[in-house]
Amino acid sequence: MQIICTGATGLVGYNFVKAALSRGHKITAICNSSDFPKMEGVEVAKLDLSDFSAVERFFLDRFPEAIANCAAISSPSVVDKNPERARVLNVLLPEKLAMLANHMNSRLVHLSTDMVFDGSRAPYKNTDAPRPFNQYGQTKLEAETAVLKYAASQSVVLRISHVCGRGLKQNRSFDEKLFHCLARGEKYEQPENEIKRFLPASRVAELMTELFERPNVSGIYHYCGLESLSRYEAARRICEKFGLDPQKYLEKKNLPKDADFSLDMSCISSRVKTPAVNFAEILDEIEIPDACLEWYQAQTGKTPIKRFKL
Ligand SMILES: NC(=O)c1ccc[n+]([C@@H]2O[C@H](COP(=O)([O-])OP(=O)(O)OC[C@H]3O[C@@H](n4cnc5c(N)ncnc54)[C@H](OP(=O)(O)O)[C@@H]3O)[C@@H](O)[C@H]2O)c1
Repeated sequence: MQIICTGATGLVGYNFVKAALSRGHKITAICNSSDFPKMEGVEVAKLDLSDFSAVERFFLDRFPEAIANCAAISSPSVVDKNPERARVLNVLLPEKLAMLANHMNSRLVHLSTDMVFDGSRAPYKNTDAPRPFNQYGQTKLEAETAVLKYAASQSVVLRISHVCGRGLKQNRSFDEKLFHCLARGEKYEQPENEIKRFLPASRVAELMTELFERPNVSGIYHYCGLESLSRYEAARRICEKFGLDPQKYLEKKNLPKDADFSLDMSCISSRVKTPAVNFAEILDEIEIPDACLEWYQAQTGKTPIKRFKL
């Protein structure tokens, strides 16, 4: 299948390109401010996705069989600082891609988030009414509506929880941020009263690939890890696994109100083969970012085994 992947340099996008390639798909990887490495079977294109005339020309020229939309302003604080840019990337771009998917009869997988909910009534089914509590969640919710408005029959809106694992830039995932923070000499502040079902980027990528191969699945689905954990507990388990004393490196910083964003993924589980994972399996995938290795060796005297390959 010929798939165009937006946000290919991002945490999920990069993992998706690798997963789809390994299943024999041909990929066009769109990047913007960062470079994408050379890979056999991947056409790399620099494109500013906020330029909708250029987007239209680009997609109509290639007429892809499928589109994986992994581009976004994915950090809530960046959305708050740049609400206009966030609206373009998080709402108007998915809307444009859905219109193009409809026109070209392409399959579209669009990523959304557990933050379309407010954390007061978990676990959330995919049929529960969303109620975002921040701007980021609001933009993602509006995008869901637009995608289903313009391309319902050929699209999957995949709501995912907090992502762990290795990205191209090695600074985006929950664990990568933890190591960068510690290497800067700071404590990693995490709440004990915000609950997530963490999942690895590699598994989201695998599921997205499967969804392209199952055209009979469409609509909104939830996908996450098997365990509900507080952000503090997830960070504690990562520290423990890497021999770092949580007392020394972590700080509890609770939210004013308890929030549980656990998703119920029973609906997707009965339709796909990609299994969900528990946190122990996520820990097996976590690696220390290259930029933090020297710090880690100085702290622990250990040399971690490197498994990650470009
Ligand atoms: N990470 C999570 O924990 C998480 C959780 C739930 C849902 N999600 C959703 O999953 C999706 C992927 O998230 P992620 O964490 O992988 O994102 P990410 O690492 O922040 O990557 C965002 C991507 O968007 C691209 N991008 C931004 N502005 C662009 C522009 N103007 N033109 C072209 N490309 C542009 C970036 O490209 P350049 O770097 O090349 O500029 C980058 O590749 C998002 O929809 C996010 O909302 C993520």
